[in-house]
Amino acid sequence: MKAIKVGLLGIGTVGSGTFHVLRRNQAEIKGRAGRGIEVTMVCRRDLAQARQIVGDADVVVTADPFEIIRNPEIDIVVETIGGCDLARSLVLEAIAQGKHVVTANKALLAVHGTEIFAAARAKGVMVAFEAAVAGGIPIIKALREGLTANRIEWIAGIINGTTNFILSEMRSKGLDFATVLKEAQRLGYAEADPTFDVEGVDAAHKLTLMSAIAFGVPVQFDKAHVEGISQLQAADIKYAEQLGYRIKLLGLTRRRDTGIELRVHPTLVPMSRLIANVEGAMNAVVVQGDAVGTTLYYGKGAGAEPTASAVIADLVDITRLHTADPDHRVPHLAFQPDAMSDTAI
Ligand code: HSE
Repeated sequence: MKAIKVGLLGIGTVGSGTFHVLRRNQAEIKGRAGRGIEVTMVCRRDLAQARQIVGDADVVVTADPFEIIRNPEIDIVVETIGGCDLARSLVLEAIAQGKHVVTANKALLAVHGTEIFAAARAKGVMVAFEAAVAGGIPIIKALREGLTANRIEWIAGIINGTTNFILSEMRSKGLDFATVLKEAQRLGYAEADPTFDVEGVDAAHKLTLMSAIAFGVPVQFDKAHVEGISQLQAADIKYAEQLGYRIKLLGLTRRRDTGIELRVHPTLVPMSRLIANVEGAMNAVVVQGDAVGTTLYYGKGAGAEPTASAVIADLVDITRLHTADPDHRVPHLAFQPDAMSDTAI
């Protein structure tokens, strides 16, 4: 069977990680997907840089994303360019062209998810986004598949590596906020606009997506309470420590009688809790289900290959489903708005 053909919209950190891991592990990935998965087109404004990344591979390099989206040979488009406006147009156009879409873009889905999932559903294509939440941790699949038997009661997580890195360094090295933020940017953890990290917006984007899956509510980022860490002082962290707590930027979502709660804010976590001891640019998510009880997921929430790991998991899922007899496709990668309640947040 011929390989599934993938076009990468953006070949920066995540795009290049995806390209390299797909090639390095191609035999394993082919075995698991049931057929090969090949990147045949990549898009980047700087063509020389794109060519340097793909090396001598047989890949078309273009600066025009529409050349990929409108190419009939491409089965799946991977969007890693980030931002909302252009990404929204590209993803909607890819869907209109009948392409499946894999995206790592949490801001895009948190803000425009309802429109994008509805378009995908109408066109019968899949939009998958494992990489958009907690990087390499397969939390979307855990919520959607592994925990599918459960009534989810709540989710609490450290879902922004930059802020966890900042809080850890401020605590352990006594460094100030601005110095550690610069280091996080140098290490490539932070968003293009780091205010998204430090003001809790990035965590709220991810929380919104987990909440929508866990509770079947529409994606409603605008209903989230969002508070970041930029006002925290080293002294706050020190006093919390003296009282037996660590300060963590948590995303919390849970069922209440009146609706679904969605909030991101610095939280005092007793040091005895596992999540209080998650240090550095790591992520950790705790999920409480009625049948399974408490489960904990831990790993790298950012970076080229951890995020590529999640992108490729989606590529494999889509390849399996795309290849299956259409009557037997399980549309578990697309939201099903009809099944969603209108629960207010
Ligand atoms: N800026 C994000 C973080 C990157 O620090 O977690 C991954 O989404």
